[in-house]
Amino acid sequence: MEGEPLVYIDGELVPKSQAKISVFDHGFLYGDGVFESILVTNGVAFKLKEHVDRLYDSAKAICLDIPMSKEEMIKTVVDVVRANGLRDAYVRLVVTRGVGDLGLDPRKCQKPTVVIIVDKIKLYGEEALSKGLTAIISSVRRDRVDATTHEVKSMNYLNNILAKLEANAVGADEAIMLDDRGFVCEGTADNVFIVKNGVIYTPPRTSGALPGITRARVMRLAEELGYKVVEKDITPVELLTADEVFLTGTAAGIVPVTKVAGRVIGNGRPGPITKKLMESFKRLLGDPSEGVKIF
Ligand SMILES: Cc1ncc(COP(=O)(O)O)c(C=O)c1O
Repeated sequence: MEGEPLVYIDGELVPKSQAKISVFDHGFLYGDGVFESILVTNGVAFKLKEHVDRLYDSAKAICLDIPMSKEEMIKTVVDVVRANGLRDAYVRLVVTRGVGDLGLDPRKCQKPTVVIIVDKIKLYGEEALSKGLTAIISSVRRDRVDATTHEVKSMNYLNNILAKLEANAVGADEAIMLDDRGFVCEGTADNVFIVKNGVIYTPPRTSGALPGITRARVMRLAEELGYKVVEKDITPVELLTADEVFLTGTAAGIVPVTKVAGRVIGNGRPGPITKKLMESFKRLLGDPSEGVKIF
């Protein structure tokens, strides 16, 4: 089909309809792999280097040797976005253990599979963003930091999906998950922040949440704007009684949450600090100094 998006698979660019990998790939059979999502806005891949650094850290944590240098990976992502001609895109970068046999032993996999998909994504509509999302507190806990840890951006997202199903079942937009101790951890694909008495709080790395790249930039942005930002354990009650709640992630950016587990947050509308951050963050996207310029 002409005009189809082109997908990179192990050095080849193939049209989307023909982009296939083996059923013996351990990414498919066992979720044995790592990934990243990168947003391209007005020709700039936001924080591409940071995403590639995190990809290689995730790979290191699971003893997966990515068969190219970080520099080559960045260049390859840039080339694939260029080949697709999209100035605004959502890039999915996946590295799996590769093709093996039906046993789970990674030693049977000769070579990792590298896939780069360039597409579009829209998680929430304008209305949800302007009114704020509704969220539940999921009964599904995040995995422990010494188990299938979520600090590694791996292909094990069933924990997140189970929480999302719970949200879907009651018509909520998102699920906020607790860590194994019962403190607030993160959303299903986003980090969590609360605001109380003008101070911004977010769970620390020790909660086991993914060290979000948007989270890090938003924390710095908030400080640049003069707000105090504190990483600390957040109890469910602190979440429910916050003045403002918002989520951060690559696909979603900054998203206000105005109801959690049936409790109205603040006055039920996106709060002033959330709105200020959303406005300022939007200006960072597309800024060449915040990423890698592709076009
Ligand atoms: C579980 C989880 N937490 C947080 C995030 C946000 O991270 P980032 O801002 O790097 O996209 C993601 C994004 O994919 C995620 O999957």
